[in-house]
Amino acid sequence: MARPLRNHNLSRIYAAEPTVTNGTGMFSKNPSSNGHTARKRVEPFKVPTSLDLLHDPALNKGRAFNEAERQALGLTGLLPPRIITLEDQAKRVIATVRSKKTDLDRYNSLIGLQDRNETLFYYVLIHHLEELMPIIYTPTIGQACQQYGHIFRRARGMYISDRDRGHIREVLGNWPQDDVRVIVVTDGERVLGLGDLGAHGMGIPVGKLSLYTACAGVRPSQTLPITLDVGTDNEELLASPVYLGLPHKRMRGEEYDRFIEEFIYAANDRFPGVLIQLEDFGRENAFRLLEQYRDKVCLFNDDIQGTAAVTLAGLLSSLRITGKKLGDQTVLLFGAGEAATGIADLIVLAMVREGIPEEIARRKCWLMDSKGLVVRSRNDLADNKLAYAHEHEPLPDLFSAVQALRPTALIGASGKSSAFTQAVLSTMAAYNEHPIVFALSNPTSQSECTAEECYQFTDGRAIFASGSPFPEVRMKERTITPGQANNAYVFPGIGLGVIASGARRVTEEMFYEAAKALAGEVTPADLAMGRIYPGLDRVREVSAVIATAVAQVAFKKELATVEEPPNVLGWLESLMYVPDYASYV
Ligand code: NAI
Repeated sequence: MARPLRNHNLSRIYAAEPTVTNGTGMFSKNPSSNGHTARKRVEPFKVPTSLDLLHDPALNKGRAFNEAERQALGLTGLLPPRIITLEDQAKRVIATVRSKKTDLDRYNSLIGLQDRNETLFYYVLIHHLEELMPIIYTPTIGQACQQYGHIFRRARGMYISDRDRGHIREVLGNWPQDDVRVIVVTDGERVLGLGDLGAHGMGIPVGKLSLYTACAGVRPSQTLPITLDVGTDNEELLASPVYLGLPHKRMRGEEYDRFIEEFIYAANDRFPGVLIQLEDFGRENAFRLLEQYRDKVCLFNDDIQGTAAVTLAGLLSSLRITGKKLGDQTVLLFGAGEAATGIADLIVLAMVREGIPEEIARRKCWLMDSKGLVVRSRNDLADNKLAYAHEHEPLPDLFSAVQALRPTALIGASGKSSAFTQAVLSTMAAYNEHPIVFALSNPTSQSECTAEECYQFTDGRAIFASGSPFPEVRMKERTITPGQANNAYVFPGIGLGVIASGARRVTEEMFYEAAKALAGEVTPADLAMGRIYPGLDRVREVSAVIATAVAQVAFKKELATVEEPPNVLGWLESLMYVPDYASYV
């Protein structure tokens, strides 16, 4: 059962940051050194003046600079004379964003704002998160990456290419902030379900880190998006004059491994203990790199582990509707890549926690890849699939697999659009009173089925969730709100918990606890609407709860590097960044 909804006082979560002025125009640019880790405090920082101030997105306030600041900081005459507040600026921004014709235009408008005035950007984003998340993240972010060469205006984050081999540490030294706590890094080989976009994958780390700040209050200055430009095998990009990366084929093999190793240790040297989130790497590298580094540094892979946590949470919530236990489930994962294997592994861990022997738990999870059901007799299976290669006759297609296995839950993570056909869905509905159907593939164009198809072909009985958002569906006098299995529910909270506790490693148990915490935040009202995740409007509150669960694992397992406070939730909430203008004079 979900805990009763705590009446979170927004002002508590959004509590304004302390004013950073010290009356002499000096302030810590990074007031984030708020004592929650053992890091040393950054040196006081002198506020720049004139155009330097207006061109610094972390400090710029645009028309909100007051008269005293304008005079003291050489801004008089450089801004229109009429002063407006942050709230008024935000109203103008959202009106402008809404007036744009396409989502990509909206994305460009928001990124432009992020490049000019970060505080205003986050203020708008946090206050309109549900509306804007699909713009700065999936699905629009997919389009943005596909168009990156055309829409690129100003570099954000860092690009590290093979030209930097041997001196990556030096290159990282160019980043102006010393107190970076989280890096999201991609090599752009498998961007969403869109394939190899090379250096144009940069949109993803930028978007994800914006969500770290918006959803979990990680300070913008503590985040660093990085693209490792190791080339691309995308012929269209290689031939394109607007491609931003070095136009050569992907680096592979030992050369690639050495490059990644240099990067991981250089990042840890430059930003000791930094949390590294691997993002949108190709399948083979993703598993290998996770295995290689998860016990050596503070690192996780969101495509594998974050997806697993959000999906397990959805499954646990679904069971509150079906009234069944996790151990009663037969789960068929359509797709056998990063997302699907990660999900299967975490479901197995959760079943084991319910007392089911691991071997039996594994047998309750089945995978399908592009060649059919993953079975023991196949000799073409990658390592990640072997644990789920059960004894069974080979089955080439999903429909026959659903007929043969009678799964209670069907989870799509294949990138294959429309794979959940009417026949597949109605068969699921024939075997289950409430079939669990998750069509996780992103962006929307790749989804295995739409929400409407799912409800229509299961007589409105399915419990549905998708990777990208779908609108409400009207079924027999009832309005169903499809759940979004959005990783943004979990990775920001996990990040906050890891960063705040100074955890030295990110463990599987953290993802399991994060999933349980997320499921615990789903209210009976959510379930009544057909929604198996909390509303996105509560994501900051939910992130704080997830961060608490994660930090508690760090404290319990002696992975933390700070002392455990008496009230972990209250402590984490108090650390969350709130966009507000500091006073400079
Ligand atoms: P991946 O490339 O590692 O795996 C894709 C898998 O799908 C492979 O096993 C492949 O054999 C299989 N596949 C491809 N075509 C198929 C077909 N016709 N029939 C059966 N299997 C087929 O990719 P990854 O990272 O696992 O992502 C897969 C999808 O899941 C992507 O669209 C991605 O956007 C989505 N995803 C969604 C998330 C969410 O909703 N929260 C999070 C992470 C990924």
